[in-house]
Amino acid sequence: MTAEGATAREWGRSFGLYLHVPFCDVRCGYCDFNTYTSDELGEGATRAQYADSALREIDLAARTTGPREVDTVFVGGGTPTQLASAELVRMLRGIDRAWGLAPDAEVTTEANPDSVTPASLAELREGGFTRISFGMQSAAPHVLAMLDRTHDPANVPRAVRWAREAGFEQVSLDLIYGTPTESIQDWRRSVEEALSMEPDHVSAYALIVEDGTAFARKVRRGEVTMPDDDETADKYLLADDLFEQAGLGWYELSNWARDDDARCRHNLGYWYSGDWWGIGPGAHSHLDGERWWNIKHPAAYAQRLASGGSPRADGETLDEDIRALEDVMLRIRLREGIETRALAGDPAPMIAEGLLTAQDDRVVLTREGRLLADHVVRRLT
Ligand SMILES: C[S@@+](CC[C@H](N)C(=O)[O-])C[C@H]1O[C@@H](n2cnc3c(N)ncnc32)[C@H](O)[C@@H]1O
Ligand code: SF4
Repeated sequence: MTAEGATAREWGRSFGLYLHVPFCDVRCGYCDFNTYTSDELGEGATRAQYADSALREIDLAARTTGPREVDTVFVGGGTPTQLASAELVRMLRGIDRAWGLAPDAEVTTEANPDSVTPASLAELREGGFTRISFGMQSAAPHVLAMLDRTHDPANVPRAVRWAREAGFEQVSLDLIYGTPTESIQDWRRSVEEALSMEPDHVSAYALIVEDGTAFARKVRRGEVTMPDDDETADKYLLADDLFEQAGLGWYELSNWARDDDARCRHNLGYWYSGDWWGIGPGAHSHLDGERWWNIKHPAAYAQRLASGGSPRADGETLDEDIRALEDVMLRIRLREGIETRALAGDPAPMIAEGLLTAQDDRVVLTREGRLLADHVVRRLT
């Protein structure tokens, strides 16, 4: 068994807690996450009432799983920092009380750069959060405007500085590339600006046109034009070059980290098909081949829990074939690649074409292969 194989086995056994916070100040036109602005939700599902509902689900979940140490917690959204830090810490304490956090647990929250202060960050750090991920997206004001992002780009370095001062050792930045009107120079500036803040971790995602969003309607009406695949590929390669030069190595298609310890352990748990429980409206869970998801609307979610019921909407059992297929789809995206024996398709032609390399008992995407990852997956499954 290679070191990577042992790692994969460990991640596959990990237990993570995802906590969804379904609130945003403004709904960005491109985003289809399950999130609501303050005027969309009425009594029973307000921000102030949210932690109580989530804590009810936490207690219910812990009764279902029985004793199990939590390795990672990821608070995502929406915008978790729309809630007071005291509320986020109260939910984290609830998780600790219900299961127990591992002594070295990774505890992440996502945050918008405008929704934090030195005091709110200090409270999160003291309350047990170890990692923070800021939604920077771009340094170009016209790109932020196209995305409906409301933050002032100057507030990102300020938020990162405050996070460091508060004692966060792990700071991550989220970037988006491929927004209409974004030039290659705009993107270069965004990456350079992100690197100047010396993050431990960066996620860079190509903008996806999600059906049903305001942004998708603009694209359909021809008001904005998405870049072609070549331009998007150039931006990926430029970012990869600049990240690598700055000492951030790729470890998953869209994620780069300063070293192995700076990788997002929670996400590694997903990618290696570990177990996780998703708390909150619309949250998905996975325990040993069983997958289920919660009712989507926060008011219905709160009502179910208040009346002593489960918020579960539906679920499925993953058979061996589906598990094997999903393993390939997720693990081929990782720098560690996947064992050749786990593949249904023959990797040899793609090794010859320069899309994959063979490393010990595994295959790993080449740089060219990373640009064509979906195509590679189709041929391997
Ligand atoms: C839930 S948000 C993170 C927290 C915070 N609300 C924010 O936006 O920064 C997670 C990430 O998903 C990204 N995202 C949302 N919709 C996307 C899309 N259509 N294409 C690419 N990235 C998207 C966001 O930009 C953000 O960085
Ligand atoms: S991208 Fe973030 S801030 Fe914007 S609507 Fe989605 S979750 Fe909210």
